[in-house]
Amino acid sequence: VSNTSVTKKSDIIDKLKLVKMTSFILNNTLIKTELPKGMSLLNFIRNEAGLKGTKGGCKEGDCGACTVLLGELKDDEVKYKTIVSCLTPLGNVHGKHVVTIEGLNMPVTTPVQQQFIDNAATQCGFCTPGFIVSLTGYAISGNAGNEEDAIASIAGNICRCTGYKSIEKAAFGIAEILKDKDPSNPVKWLIDNNFIPEYFDGIKTGLKGIKESTPVNSRPDLTVGGGTDLMVQMPETVKVSALNLVSDNKKLKTIEVKNNRMVVGGAVTVNDLLDNAFFVNTFPESKEWFKLVSSEQIRNTATLAGNFVNASPIGDMSVFFIALEAEITLVAPDNSKRKLKLKDFFLDYKVLDKKENEIIESIEFELPSEKSSFNFEKVSKRLHLDIASVNSALKIEKQGNIITKAVLSAGGIAPIPKYLRKTSGFLTGKEINSEIIREAADYLQKDISPISDVRGSKEYKELLLKQLLFAHFFRMFPDVFKEETLLQLT
Ligand code: FES
Ligand code: FES
Repeated sequence: VSNTSVTKKSDIIDKLKLVKMTSFILNNTLIKTELPKGMSLLNFIRNEAGLKGTKGGCKEGDCGACTVLLGELKDDEVKYKTIVSCLTPLGNVHGKHVVTIEGLNMPVTTPVQQQFIDNAATQCGFCTPGFIVSLTGYAISGNAGNEEDAIASIAGNICRCTGYKSIEKAAFGIAEILKDKDPSNPVKWLIDNNFIPEYFDGIKTGLKGIKESTPVNSRPDLTVGGGTDLMVQMPETVKVSALNLVSDNKKLKTIEVKNNRMVVGGAVTVNDLLDNAFFVNTFPESKEWFKLVSSEQIRNTATLAGNFVNASPIGDMSVFFIALEAEITLVAPDNSKRKLKLKDFFLDYKVLDKKENEIIESIEFELPSEKSSFNFEKVSKRLHLDIASVNSALKIEKQGNIITKAVLSAGGIAPIPKYLRKTSGFLTGKEINSEIIREAADYLQKDISPISDVRGSKEYKELLLKQLLFAHFFRMFPDVFKEETLLQLT
């Protein structure tokens, strides 16, 4: 690791009196910078560090052209994940290793690059660095060798000219090579097999040399988690604000089980949940469900609290946790706290029961019992990386064949992500059979008020929600609802 400082002072920094530098390793160079913590990592990489291989496409987290690897020390190992640099505030990479396409280049082509050449998987090349970095992230991950995961790793990368078949073939070729990967020492294996350069070996020591960050301002203007929302909505404001960066706040990153309740910190990401063995054991289908939630890069970065606070009427995680009857804890700057049901947090379109300086500290829910079933469904125009047209979650508790409690939620059918109180009430106490489900589907109209928009007409969304209700029961009770039953219902 060579030692280079990139330091630029601007009027903005003087005004904000930022006392703490952002230090990180960019490829094999130690960076110390006083540039605003709210500037985008993409702008730093391209304009300050002069590395032009990382491309800026949409700057909204949708195209993946700006994908970089982010490595951080966890359990004395450097764990890598992919992120979109366009939506990452510079301050969020403090103490971490950022790898751009240049940081993967070696005198020989890497197996990932070679597969792209062999399969003619590139034309104009604009998207290619992002694909190469995403697939290298897959190579470093624990799931290497699995073809399905290879494809999932590039679900957040868009190519406008090559066509996906050749890229898919390249991804399969990479998965094939990785079947031989040594799981006991993956970094060494990847270095020995030219997937990553040798300097990766020294990164752990390099990161240990970077001191932990301290709060830069006791009276921040803005609290920022992953940044995936605010960096789209107000990048210039984020850049010039004194920030409370919480994405690495240990308390907000905790996932624990207390008194039969799971308590999840507000800064936990979707992929943090998927990395948690207890969560995955509790919801074995979660990996399938969450594949439909944004992209790998966004699932690595965006926080649950951010998803709630965005207040989108189709927020996937809002719908998911409402059906779990989750409660959130809000904390104010004076450390006073209050709890409320997530379903009551959403008051009207983009209106929340939240004071200006409160942040969501945690979300908690009772662990499902053996008598309960849970399911999540999402339909969007495109399968991956798309906003839902309608999404829904359902929790059922039952005694024998009788529903003792039903909690149904849905998004895209009202100005807020909604608990469907009337339909849930109707289902409670009923026997699980197709007649009841058909009646419940008619009941849905009493709970919803969809509008026609780009994601579908009002009528389409009404129909979709009915189908999702059937899908819930079909998946939760396959013994009762066979495919034929489903066809009769629809
Ligand atoms: Fe498109 Fe970052 S530029 S995801
Ligand atoms: Fe041109 Fe992908 S190769 S956009």
